Amino acid sequence: MKIVRLPGLIDVHTHLRVPGGEHKEDFASGSAAALAGGITMILGMPNTSPPLCTPEVLLAARQRAAQDSYCDVGLFAGACPALIEHLPDLAPHAAALKIYLNDTFGQLRVEDVPTLRACFQTWPHHKLIAMHAEKQSVAVGIGFAAAYNRPVHFCHISRREEIELIADAKAQGLPVTCEVTPHHLFLTTADAQRLGPLGDMRPLLGTPDDVAALWDHLSSTVDCIATDHAPHTLAEKYSATPPPGVAGLETSLPLMLTAVQQGRLTLERLIELMHTTPRRLFNLPEQPDTWVDVDVESTYLVKNETMVSKCGWTPFAGWELTGKVEKVVLRGRVVVENGLIVGERGGGRLLTVPPLVD
Ligand code: NCD
Ligand code: ZN
Repeated sequence: MKIVRLPGLIDVHTHLRVPGGEHKEDFASGSAAALAGGITMILGMPNTSPPLCTPEVLLAARQRAAQDSYCDVGLFAGACPALIEHLPDLAPHAAALKIYLNDTFGQLRVEDVPTLRACFQTWPHHKLIAMHAEKQSVAVGIGFAAAYNRPVHFCHISRREEIELIADAKAQGLPVTCEVTPHHLFLTTADAQRLGPLGDMRPLLGTPDDVAALWDHLSSTVDCIATDHAPHTLAEKYSATPPPGVAGLETSLPLMLTAVQQGRLTLERLIELMHTTPRRLFNLPEQPDTWVDVDVESTYLVKNETMVSKCGWTPFAGWELTGKVEKVVLRGRVVVENGLIVGERGGGRLLTVPPLVD
């Protein structure tokens, strides 16, 4: 047993399913799953039903988040082509704007340049724009970052061609950043075959060469680790039309700690990727008296049965990981003890995000 103290970790890409998907996850279950995984602050994605694209829906979701959350929560606003005129009114209540350039779960795809221009022209300059962009769509996002001279953050980068393009854009001094998910670092197309619908997510799992490229860029081009926690029930996953997405909040830190144990990255770099840089990029508030004690030597078996997330399964079931969350303290209060949630519902804070300094 060797206890190491980490700062409260931040996940800038969580699907919390409120409103409309509460049978998959809700603010209580998702934020408790985050704490179980050593994550004390999460940013919720806007592809809910209805999506977080009007002030009414966003404000109602914020109210429920404030009542139900065990950890601190902020919410993204979504760019919906038919509702684009609402962006200026959404901005004061959102941590950032999410734009989907590629197909995924939900109805938020933006397909045309005029809508993208409207996003870049009307979303306040001091707030971040995050994009789901794959393959050549990454070049579209880089083009918009350059044309409007404002930061663009790329979600869940998963392929060699994408991470290399972002590295080249950064080398030119363009204001782009990116995240990668643990599932794209630890699973490949071979696992997708083995797992069937439980290995299906967007972006799809990459080839071994894609995965090698992500690891090669982990100490340079990659800015943060984000979970893309996207819970769906087993019944949905084994249905005729399985939705893409896998849970990730509870396995993200243990997987990355296992990589530290194996000498694939340093603990200092893990803290940058999972705390320092996400906080700086999204201009998130500090959480005083907040920390996570992990046992970096104890090995444990990942089991579906012990998952806190409502979905109750993980693509990593049966894996032996080294690195266990023992205790989490949020603003001076113990919220996880011996791996169990002891915090209170509503004990998390709703984030009000101050403007970025230009
Ligand atoms: C996400 C979901 O289920 O909401 N699914 C996924 O495969 N990643 C959608 C998304 O993150 O784009
Ligand atoms: Zn997502």
